[in-house]
Amino acid sequence: MQVATISFDRFNTLRDEEAHERIRAAKAKLGKRVVLLVHHYQRADVYQHHDLTGDSLKLSRLASQTDAEFIVFCGVHFMAEVADILSKPEQISILPDLAAGCSMADMANLAKVERSWRELAEVLGEDPDKLVTPVTYINSAADLKAFCGEHGGIVCTSSNAPTILDWSFAQREKILFFPDQHLGRWSGYKKGIPLEDMLVWDPDLPHGGLEPADIKRAKMLLWKGHCSVHQMFQPSHIIKWRNKYPDGIVISHPESAFEVCKQSDYVGSTEYILKTVKDAAPNTRWLVGTELNLVSRLAEEVKHEGKIVEFMAPMVCMCSTMQRIDPQHLAWTLENLAEGKVVNRITVPEHEAALARLSLERMLAVS
Ligand code: 13P
Ligand code: SF4
Repeated sequence: MQVATISFDRFNTLRDEEAHERIRAAKAKLGKRVVLLVHHYQRADVYQHHDLTGDSLKLSRLASQTDAEFIVFCGVHFMAEVADILSKPEQISILPDLAAGCSMADMANLAKVERSWRELAEVLGEDPDKLVTPVTYINSAADLKAFCGEHGGIVCTSSNAPTILDWSFAQREKILFFPDQHLGRWSGYKKGIPLEDMLVWDPDLPHGGLEPADIKRAKMLLWKGHCSVHQMFQPSHIIKWRNKYPDGIVISHPESAFEVCKQSDYVGSTEYILKTVKDAAPNTRWLVGTELNLVSRLAEEVKHEGKIVEFMAPMVCMCSTMQRIDPQHLAWTLENLAEGKVVNRITVPEHEAALARLSLERMLAVS
C-alpha cells in the first residue's frame, strides 16, 4: 500500500450531498476491506454511514474482532489508538480528522502521571507498584495505558468501571484513578467506598495538594480531570424537571458530577443509556444527561412509541472535538483509501502498544 498525504483542500468546499455520494461510492469500491466504527456521539450526517456503532468498550471489542484491512474510526483520537493497539499488525486504523481529540484525555499526560507516582513513593515510603493499582479510563493517551500495563494496572470504560475497581483492589490496597475524577468517584461509591476515602489528586500541586496522612489513609486518589460536556449538567436541572414531571425517569452518563448521578434513576455508558430507553415501556418520559447528538437521535428513534426524551441541560452540549469528523473529512479519507492512499493513519509505537495492550487485555478479560 502506497502511503501519501493528499491535500484536504479539494474536499473542504464540497457540498454535503456530494460528500455523501462520494462516501457511498468509495465505501462500495472498498467493500469488506473497510469498516466504519462510529461512536454514539457522532453527528447525524456522519453517523448515517456507520457499519458498526457502540460505546468505548463495544467499539474496542469490535476493533479487536474485525478482519477489515482499514478501520476508519469516527470518534476521537484515543479510540483510534485503541483500535490500532487491539487490531492485527497488518490492519490500519484511521481517524478522519486528526484534530478530533478528547479534552478530558488531555487533562492527564505521562510526565504528570510519572511525577505523581514518584511523589506517592515519597509519601508511602514504598514502591507504589506494591501498594497502588493505576487505573486509567479508556479516555486517555496510549502511553498512559502503557504506564498501567507496566505498573500492574488496568484500563476501564464507563460500562465496566466498578468491576475494574474490584479487580484493582484485589491486586493492591489503593487506586490512582485518572483522568476522570467523576467516573472514579461514582464507581467507588457504587462499590461502597465512603466519599471521604476518595480524595482529589491535583497533579499540578506538590503531592496532589494533599497532606501525607490523607494520602496514606485514602482508598482512591482521583485525578483532577473532567469532561467539559458532562460538567454542564447540574442537579438543579434534574430537580426542576422532576417538579414538572414527577413520573419522569432520569438517566445519566457517569462522567457527570456525583450529585447528578446520585439524583438519576439510572447511570451508565452511552450504549447502556440507549438500550435502557429503547427497552423501556411505551409512553414514558426521559431526561438524559449525555451528549446532544446521542440524545437527539434517541428522541427521534423512540417517539413512535410515545416516549419523550429530553436533554438535561438548557444549553447546547456537544462534544466539539467529535464534531470535527464531518462528511467532507470522511469523503476525503475514504476516497484516498479507494485510490490506494492512506491518510491520517494512527500508529502507536510497538514498545508502547505492547504495554498498553497488556492493560487493555486485562480489562477485556475482567469485563
Ligand atoms: P462511552 O464509553 O460510554 O461511549 O463514553 C465515551 C465518552 O467519551 C463519553 O464522553
Ligand atoms: Fe472526551 Fe467528553 Fe468528548 Fe467524551 S464527551 S470524548 S469525555 S470531551
